[in-house]
Amino acid sequence: MGKTLTALFSEVTATYEIRNAVLDDSYLWPEEEKILQDVSEKRRWDFVSGRKCARLAIETLGVKATPVLTGLRDEPIWPDGLVGSITHTRNYAAAAIAPASKILCLGLDAEPDEPLPHKVLSRISNAEEFNWVQRAKGKEIPHPGTLLFSAKEATYKAWNSVTKEWLGFSDAHVNFHIEKQTFTVSLNKPSSLKTLSGTFGTTEGIIMTAIEIPVSQ
Ligand SMILES: CC(C)(COP(=O)(O)OP(=O)(O)OC[C@H]1O[C@@H](n2cnc3c(N)ncnc32)[C@H](O)[C@@H]1OP(=O)(O)O)[C@@H](O)C(=O)NCCC(=O)NCCS
Repeated sequence: MGKTLTALFSEVTATYEIRNAVLDDSYLWPEEEKILQDVSEKRRWDFVSGRKCARLAIETLGVKATPVLTGLRDEPIWPDGLVGSITHTRNYAAAAIAPASKILCLGLDAEPDEPLPHKVLSRISNAEEFNWVQRAKGKEIPHPGTLLFSAKEATYKAWNSVTKEWLGFSDAHVNFHIEKQTFTVSLNKPSSLKTLSGTFGTTEGIIMTAIEIPVSQ
């Protein structure tokens, strides 16, 4: 199930990740620093590392980086001409950035490769997804509940970038295609986004899910 972060996306998307690094806020813009008021050390590491990943991924695309501020739903506000997504968990941070001329939206999520508590699974899954998790447990994927949760978080990030609206866990139905390490999400909320396709992989104790929706031709 191993897959690198880069392999989760097409070649037009730039990615950057940080693992177990000491806090490095040399990449933070003063405008980004202002978003961080009296936060915990963990939150500071997450935000700073996520913004560093975003900045380095933006520069990989050959674009001059500018501050990435935060919107009303806590979403990152990308510089003109770019779309992207940020994730962080347990001393891991990553960002994916793409040109808006080619990619409509991105959703990236990382979770520890550990079992999802039963209570959380019950809250985030419908009956079909719940049964799939029970069947898949301990087979090809050690922690299918966490994979499902991550796919729904990536879905929300991609969805929210386009619609700016809330999406509940019951508004999305996820089907996994394990052999291909992909998944399909059917959305039951009215919008231009009806079905999303994603990829997933695990590496060094982290489950990652990614959604990349191309601009329709
Ligand atoms: C917003 C949310 C998806 C973040 O996921 P998470 O696993 O808790 O945290 P992650 O570390 O992976 O991601 C955090 C990053 O997501 C991004 N993010 C936050 N809100 C966002 C939004 N509304 N849209 C897009 N990206 C968002 C931010 O960049 C944030 O990092 P930052 O604050 O340092 O900038 C989650 O907290 C949440 O609110 N989920 C409920 C909604 C949902 O998932 N519905 C399911 C639909 S099927």
